Amino acid sequence: MTNDSPTLNALLEHLQQFTSQSAINSSLLAIQEDANNHEQINSLCRALINEGQRHNQSAWAAHMTSSPTAASILGQVLAGLHNGNLLSPQLYPLLDKIEQQLISWFCQLYRHQYGHFTAGATYANLEALWQAREHASHDSKLVYGSHASHFSVAKACQVLGLTFQEIDTDQYDRILPSALAEVCQQQVPIAVVLTAGTSACGEIDPLSECIQICQAFDCWSHVDAAWGAGLVLLEQYQPLFCAVADADSLTIDPHKAFSQPKPCGLLLYQRPLQPLFAIDANYLEHPPKQTLPGSFGGELFLPLWSSLMFSGVADLRKQMQHRLQQAQCFAEFLTSQPYWWHHQSPTGIICFRPSADINLDDLVTLGLFSKAKVNNKTVYRCVFASQAAQATSLITALEPFC
Ligand SMILES: Cc1ncc(COP(=O)(O)O)c(C=O)c1O
Repeated sequence: MTNDSPTLNALLEHLQQFTSQSAINSSLLAIQEDANNHEQINSLCRALINEGQRHNQSAWAAHMTSSPTAASILGQVLAGLHNGNLLSPQLYPLLDKIEQQLISWFCQLYRHQYGHFTAGATYANLEALWQAREHASHDSKLVYGSHASHFSVAKACQVLGLTFQEIDTDQYDRILPSALAEVCQQQVPIAVVLTAGTSACGEIDPLSECIQICQAFDCWSHVDAAWGAGLVLLEQYQPLFCAVADADSLTIDPHKAFSQPKPCGLLLYQRPLQPLFAIDANYLEHPPKQTLPGSFGGELFLPLWSSLMFSGVADLRKQMQHRLQQAQCFAEFLTSQPYWWHHQSPTGIICFRPSADINLDDLVTLGLFSKAKVNNKTVYRCVFASQAAQATSLITALEPFC
């Protein structure tokens, strides 16, 4: 990213001054009637910032947490300074226009018709199934997914009084279209949840085949691309996103897929939202939208907007390419290890298992990797989500075990 904007430079300088002071105290201060000592508060704030640096290191690839850029931090500051509520969009026409501009951009990118921001993929999945339930023409309470569907899907089913049923998968946790067709024949569900970028393995369900099955049985298809959505920026994944365009709804988490700070989620859909209840909000000029969020403002999208303004789409694409290159480099190292098993997904997650007597749990404690289950077997999991993650640093940490 180019940091030659005076606004960004001033912000960075201020933050650098703040974090460069050394005395760091991580003991909590009391919540009390009077204010705490300012020196001690400053010290505690620096300790907190330091703690957040753990996923900003080259040897950190445990989870989908990225390191925010200066532009996205500026967006967070802007959101805090603005603090307007888009339940009253007429009061904040500029913020409203920015939100609409971003939604149009996303709709064009993923070839969907409508959309709104959410506080993350958990909420987007819940809203998608809520809509699916309201649009359903079948008398069913079933939702099909797989054991690799994110747990937010099962949680959403419980909230909505639906029953989640797992469909068989292949050895990399991808739904088997033949198994999906078979269960649909037995009972048509309200919705089928497909994943583009499974949380453990990073794999993508066979979207095109599964969405065609949903269409044949006239049931709602939802794609949870919380993690995998970033691939849309790359030419070679256009056929995949042609299939995504045929789904009824789509979850995207820019706070994973586009390295944005939390919270930034998005639900896109092809049909207008179904009116879900009669709304009597007599204190608001406009009736509230038929969406889950209540009060919300720029915190959901100004960091992303700021990143796009200061760095452009090309920078998001470069970041994605960089992360995938790092994943490729790490996978090549694993390939060169005799007796080690690994699987490289298309989304920048690599799962691996060293030969039998090697235990890497200390590296998990340090945040280099996490542990997960793929096809019911425990594996180490390496997630290239942060721009800071470097394959060479991870390889150096593994060398003593090779
Ligand atoms: C595929 C997938 N869907 C949904 C979620 C939930 O996302 P959030 O934490 O933004 O609610 C995750 C989280 O890792 C995920 O990997």
